[in-house]
Amino acid sequence: MVSEPVNVSEFQELARQALPKMYYDHYAVGAEDQKTLEENVKAFHRIIIRPRILVDVSRVDMSTSIMGYNTSAPIMVAPTARHKLAHPEGEVATARAAAACDTIMALSFMSTCTVEEVASSCNAVRFFQLYVYKSREISALMVQRAERNGFKAIILTVDAPRLGRREADIKNRMIAPQLKNFEGLISTEVHTDKGSNIEAFVSGTFDDSLCWKDIGWLKSITSLPILIKGILTCEDAIKAVEVVVAGIVVSNHGARQLDYSPATITVLEEVTLAIQGRIPVLFDGGVRRGTDFFKALALGAQAVMIGRPVIYGLAAKGEDGVKQVLSMLKDELELTMALSGCSSVKDITRRHVMTEQDKL
Ligand code: FNR
Repeated sequence: MVSEPVNVSEFQELARQALPKMYYDHYAVGAEDQKTLEENVKAFHRIIIRPRILVDVSRVDMSTSIMGYNTSAPIMVAPTARHKLAHPEGEVATARAAAACDTIMALSFMSTCTVEEVASSCNAVRFFQLYVYKSREISALMVQRAERNGFKAIILTVDAPRLGRREADIKNRMIAPQLKNFEGLISTEVHTDKGSNIEAFVSGTFDDSLCWKDIGWLKSITSLPILIKGILTCEDAIKAVEVVVAGIVVSNHGARQLDYSPATITVLEEVTLAIQGRIPVLFDGGVRRGTDFFKALALGAQAVMIGRPVIYGLAAKGEDGVKQVLSMLKDELELTMALSGCSSVKDITRRHVMTEQDKL
């Protein structure tokens, strides 16, 4: 029994105890055999940190700039759907906690609080994650609502033309609740005899014909900077530069989409080398420790997002739990920096880590 959690894994255990099994499984699950889910975390274990000594670390400054916005640390909240299944205050609680920790939150398109509720909950820099629906009007309307409510960037998620097969949801007959953002636009209440209704909802609404030329459409409906989330290869990283977006996110959707897609940390360097600093590269997937942030930063990420750890904090202790997870991870990153001889984020270099490729 965990009383006072001291790390993300203990928060995960508290969340497991707090939530109905159907909801906990929904958050924790990966696609199919969950090989990528396991690898997302384990691949970090194979990267070694090369600490430097006799560096003055009496003051460690984690502050940085993400997409041009100053923040207290290179840490962000990833967009994850349906926070009200974890806690009745949902995304409003998450947004307040992120703001209190001076951390940028990306709000999911599939949020259970509206963009207006989240925007009015506190003053902070926030990004909005977008799925493109078969009904382009609905996606456009949501982008405009986000823009009107002060969101600062659009994160276009492109790794979900179909829903990955999440077997726990199917077995548990996971029925996703209504999404308030769409009230009056479309019904998100979907009935199915296939176990979970999420797959039926996604195949009925998501536009699986979306392709590179549609970035032009997105640019035509918003003046906000656009980031493409779901890049896993140098080829697609180069294409993102060619279509001129403001940034990219190396992500495999927390291993919930294509099983056997690579663990994100194993392809981060391939992508950052292809990008060559032309646009910011954000990163997510399997980050559970301050050392994981450090490794991703050393391999070229401008900022690192966390998905499930935030949900576990929310499920365990609401707004306070999210604050605790964020500040715990910040403390862990600060300690990692100090013990590695880095007194600022820009001191973290490629030479501070050794990957499996380096050993070959
Ligand atoms: C997600 N993710 C996600 N991504 C996205 O663009 N829109 C979304 O609505 C969601 N929803 C979602 C729900 C849940 C329960 C999870 C776990 C993930 C993916 C998310 O943004 C991020 O890529 C991963 O969560 C990062 O991996 P970790 O930190 O969860 O290991």
